[in-house]
Amino acid sequence: MPIRFNRQFQVIAWLLLSGGLAAWWAHIFFQAEDKTALLPGRTSSGHYQIELQCSACHDTKPDGMLVSAVSNSACLKCHDQDLEEADDSHPPIKFKKPENRPFLAKIDAQRCVTCHTEHKPDATGPMGVTVPADYCTYCHQSTVEERETHKGLGFETCATSGCHNFHDNRALYERHLALHSLEPPHLPDAHVPTLDSLRRYIDSHAETKPLAPEDADAPAGVELPAGHLGNWSADAHALAGVNCSDCHQPAGTGWQDKVAMQTCAGCHADEEAGFLRGKHGMRLAAGLPAMNPSMARQPMRAEAAHRTLDCTSCHGAHDFDTRHAAHSACLQCHDDPHTRAYGNSTHFAAWQLEVEGKAPAGSGVSCATCHLPRVEDGQGGHRVEHNQNANLTPNEKMLRPVCQQCHGLPFAIDALFDRSLIQGNFTGLPAVHNESTDWSRQRAIDRKDPEFLELLRKSSASPDNKENTDP
Ligand code: HEC
Ligand code: HEC
Ligand code: HEC
Ligand code: HEC
Ligand code: HEC
Ligand code: HEC
Ligand code: HEC
Ligand code: HEC
Ligand code: HEC
Ligand code: HEC
Repeated sequence: MPIRFNRQFQVIAWLLLSGGLAAWWAHIFFQAEDKTALLPGRTSSGHYQIELQCSACHDTKPDGMLVSAVSNSACLKCHDQDLEEADDSHPPIKFKKPENRPFLAKIDAQRCVTCHTEHKPDATGPMGVTVPADYCTYCHQSTVEERETHKGLGFETCATSGCHNFHDNRALYERHLALHSLEPPHLPDAHVPTLDSLRRYIDSHAETKPLAPEDADAPAGVELPAGHLGNWSADAHALAGVNCSDCHQPAGTGWQDKVAMQTCAGCHADEEAGFLRGKHGMRLAAGLPAMNPSMARQPMRAEAAHRTLDCTSCHGAHDFDTRHAAHSACLQCHDDPHTRAYGNSTHFAAWQLEVEGKAPAGSGVSCATCHLPRVEDGQGGHRVEHNQNANLTPNEKMLRPVCQQCHGLPFAIDALFDRSLIQGNFTGLPAVHNESTDWSRQRAIDRKDPEFLELLRKSSASPDNKENTDP
């Protein structure tokens, strides 16, 4: 009977199909590389690169199922160090104090996921924040009611006007603002620190002799690719006595044309650590294949789509010229309006003068001056911070290590607060003014802060600074 047959067929087909579906589901869950289908929603821009590594954030039960709740410890595995360096203004521990506990009834500020949940694109704002911007009201109502300067300000402006951040207030502490509030837009003889590790290395390895081409220790038949010889002799490695085998035969292995990142890291551990914490290296850090521009959400050059990100994306093979790495290398991949505008900026003009040797080292501003700045290395020198996200957002993070080396604080805050100026890569003057420096200056006067009054006295005495001392 055709109908009967049909029903039997349907049941069998259903059984086969659902069994198949379950098997397929189990397959993608347990084995498949591509877990995209399991994601409950698009992941935030901070984490999308590692979204398929579910276990980076989620625990798994013994049966292999995912635990959907995420604990603070998962987040802190990766973010502990940034928040500590940022001198986090609201660490969970602050809310263990009895006087602060009552606030938690309004918003559970002890849990990261209260403000940074995941896979909810409609509720996610800049910097992965998933609470409405006015939530400071829950705990800081009294400030707005009591302070003359703050009366009438909307709570959504506390953290969106360049005045305060929830975590990182290093450049925004009231006293820091006051003490720098008298500075002119351009500081005299401004420059960022120069790199001194090469000199220190050579000083501390007195026996090290610079290598000449004939000292090369590669096995017979292996030669530098055509055109690389000039680079090799001028390179910091040859100068510091690092030979072919140090890179191409790590741990005494046979010759390898490719050089693994771990080999570089054997001598440059800090650089690797920084690289792995930012968006260039975070996939490698999570055990995934390296990032490349084809996966990016930021606009990238089409021809760079499949270039992988590792040490040699900016430092070519045998060309370790850091000035190439600091500017031209970036342009090979990045292609957004801000990047394209850089060539018209006075910063670029100053960089060109430095490269041509017409201005002192450190006086120009390359992409790397802002995004891979030279920070103190804890041994009295400087190293390059290779995590380009370490000072990117919120952008007040860039004030101390970068802008304040060359500009007065009020000018720099205004420039970073002007979104269209950022888009145009600082070609022009800030069109907005942030009053927080004026307020903190006035409060320092009212409180008769001795250090500030001394600065005020000195700057009024100096004829150049007259216009900056008007209250
Ligand atoms: C960067 C960290 C991170 C990664 C990687 C990640 N998640 Fe999540 N996921 C979260 C957070 C945070 C939450 C919210 C948890 C909470 O509220 O406790 C969440 C929630 C979930 C939920 C519950 C959603 C809901 O509406 O209740 C599911 C299901 C989930 N994730 C699946 C996945 C899968 C599958 C993967 C891998 C393909 C993945 N996640 C990768 C951070 C992550
Ligand atoms: C496996 C490491 C890892 C884990 C786990 C992780 N993150 Fe991240 N997170 C990163 C990296 C790397 C970035 C991108 C670089 C950056 O912005 O610092 C990032 C970016 C962010 C950002 C966005 C920063 C911005 O400016 O856009 C926030 C917020 C954040 N993480 C919070 C969390 C929270 C909350 C958790 C726990 C639910 C968590 N992260 C878990 C590595 C991790
Ligand atoms: C009460 C809300 C709230 C809680 C709780 C919270 N954050 Fe944030 N977080 C923010 C806001 C708002 C920002 C945007 C920048 C700012 O204002 O500091 C941010 C930014 C960040 C950033 C990127 C910027 C930066 O300064 O590094 C990271 C990383 C981050 N949070 C991690 C965490 C982690 C990890 C936890 C848990 C220990 C956590 N946050 C708890 C509100 C919160
Ligand atoms: C859950 C309660 C809570 C929320 C929400 C909250 N704060 Fe706070 N905040 C505190 C407490 C508690 C202190 C410590 C006060 C003290 O020590 O007198 C504090 C201190 C501060 C400080 C002083 C910084 C420092 O390091 O000493 C600033 C600035 C600040 N908060 C800004 C904000 C901003 C901006 C927001 C919203 C983006 C916010 N807070 C949201 C509870 C909160
Ligand atoms: C500081 C580390 C370093 C030193 C020292 C070094 N190289 Fe290399 N070399 C590299 C890197 C990085 C690459 C690119 C490898 C890759 O693509 O993974 C490379 C590539 C090569 C290649 C392959 C070229 C190709 O076209 O694929 C040869 C051959 C080579 N090097 C020879 C030499 C010789 C000979 C010396 C000594 C005179 C030397 N290298 C010294 C880092 C080094
Ligand atoms: C055997 C140790 C060793 C290895 C392996 C090594 N380097 Fe170096 N590197 C040095 C020394 C020594 C210097 C000179 C001192 C300094 O700047 O720290 C140097 C300097 C540098 C510089 C600065 C150049 C300049 O002009 O100031 C860069 C960039 C660099 N290395 C990148 C790399 C990369 C990328 C790799 C892997 C392909 C690598 N190094 C492998 C030891 C090494
Ligand atoms: C996004 C580009 C980029 C990548 C990727 C990159 N670097 Fe660098 N690196 C730079 C720039 C730019 C400088 C020099 C900055 C300056 O002089 O202002 C630099 C400088 C260095 C220096 C010299 C710094 C010092 O303290 O003397 C070393 C060593 C170095 N890088 C090693 C590495 C290693 C190892 C890796 C891979 C883990 C790597 N770099 C990946 C851009 C990069
Ligand atoms: C081989 C290609 C490549 C090179 C070279 C390169 N980048 Fe990137 N960069 C990327 C990719 C891919 C991302 C991730 C973008 C995304 O997640 O959308 C990125 C991310 C960034 C970010 C973070 C953007 C964000 O939204 O968080 C900054 C800043 C950055 N790069 C600056 C630089 C600078 C400065 C240089 C040169 C010193 C440089 N990059 C060299 C490919 C490259
Ligand atoms: C004077 C400092 C400065 C210079 C020079 C500079 N940048 Fe930026 N860059 C910034 C600031 C500030 C931001 C914005 C951070 C934020 O979101 O508030 C930014 C954002 C970015 C971003 C994220 C893009 C986006 O739209 O959010 C990338 C990528 C980037 N810069 C790459 C570069 C490259 C490549 C160069 C060189 C061609 C360069 N920058 C030169 C300061 C600088
Ligand atoms: C190494 C020193 C140095 C650093 C670091 C630096 N600048 Fe500059 N900046 C300059 C110089 C030099 C000029 C050009 C002065 C001139 O030619 O009038 C300039 C000009 C400017 C201008 C005016 C541009 C114009 O067209 O008139 C702005 C805005 C600006 N910088 C913002 C910033 C911000 C924001 C930062 C930090 C993210 C920063 N700068 C970091 C040295 C620096």
